[in-house]
Amino acid sequence: MRTTGTDAIGPAWQTVSAVGDVSEGRAVKVVAFGEDVLLWRAHDAIFAVSNRCTHQGAPLARGVVKPMGSLPSVTCFAHGSVFSLVDGRVLRGPAAKALTAYDARIEGDDIQVRPRS
Ligand code: FES
Repeated sequence: MRTTGTDAIGPAWQTVSAVGDVSEGRAVKVVAFGEDVLLWRAHDAIFAVSNRCTHQGAPLARGVVKPMGSLPSVTCFAHGSVFSLVDGRVLRGPAAKALTAYDARIEGDDIQVRPRS
């Protein structure tokens, strides 16, 4: 992982993948800042949230992502919780706690994420 310097408005970005390694519409698990993170790409938009379901910890990259326009969501395969990929909030339980959401961007040929401040 490569971390670039902080910019004027937040913490450092970390390169987690090459753009070419994340196909559109396919959830991919990467590691950022020591945590498993789910990446999902739609055109030039990248979404990044924690890959661990807050209900019982199932890996969400194995779930189903529904695009829903600019508001994509992921459904946990284990018990059906649904989370927004935009901000990690719970859209349907049994999970009650939001996922950690990350800022994500495409920078050249890289995908970068950083914690939201
Ligand atoms: S582990 Fe995801 S809904 Fe239970």
